[in-house]
Amino acid sequence: MDTTALSKLTHGLYVLGAKDGDRYVGCIVDAVMQASLKPLAVAVSCMKTGYTQSCIRRTNAFSLSVLGQHVDPFVIGNFGYQSGRTVDKWAAVPFVVKDDLPFYREAVGFLTCHVVAMHEFDSHVVFMAEVVDAWQQGETCCLTYNDYQNGFKTKVMEAFSQHQQKGEQKMSEKKTAWVCTVCGYVYDGDVPFEELPDTWTCPLCGVGKELFEEREV
Ligand SMILES: Cc1cc2nc3c(=O)[nH]c(=O)nc-3n(C[C@H](O)[C@H](O)[C@H](O)COP(=O)(O)O)c2cc1C
Repeated sequence: MDTTALSKLTHGLYVLGAKDGDRYVGCIVDAVMQASLKPLAVAVSCMKTGYTQSCIRRTNAFSLSVLGQHVDPFVIGNFGYQSGRTVDKWAAVPFVVKDDLPFYREAVGFLTCHVVAMHEFDSHVVFMAEVVDAWQQGETCCLTYNDYQNGFKTKVMEAFSQHQQKGEQKMSEKKTAWVCTVCGYVYDGDVPFEELPDTWTCPLCGVGKELFEEREV
């Protein structure tokens, strides 16, 4: 069997959104198809290792935001290269909430879906879901999985690594200072705080060194 034949199947790219308690989660999916006209239904295939699919199993509801050709490449890295187990992905992109589900604001099409059946494979779960609401915006064409594989992926990787680097830079820029817990005075003397004599006192309220603590500023 030549399994590369499967790479000839055509897919779009979507942000699959779901609710997780009092927050939202999401990931990139390409394995989406319209499965029925009456009722209007879609099928979405998710890897069982993903966090988003575990939330959909609990809530039986998800959103699909259809990505257009002019999508910010970062969006695909944000939702596709990391897990919602450790990151709040929606905090990094503009989004709207409808039917208590998150939608990527700059998408070209939007679907609200309610799961009516599931099929378990070893690696994937397929959600069959009724489309209970749908709307679109703009005239832009959709981004395909082929576009992603044939060049767009490089842009995604660049945008995502730039974002990661910015985050790391911010972390290393975080400064600490010794702050008086009584009056809030921030020590900024030339002598390192640790080397000040034990008799040193806060110039504002007069308390001793022991009432200072190191805080992020
Ligand atoms: C281009 C692209 C297509 C993807 N297609 C799918 C897909 O169809 N189904 C799926 O389960 N994961 C797919 N993924 C992988 C998930 O988006 C990825 O594993 C994500 O980090 C899961 O996040 P989560 O753990 O927060 O759910 C795709 C990723 C990319 C970059």
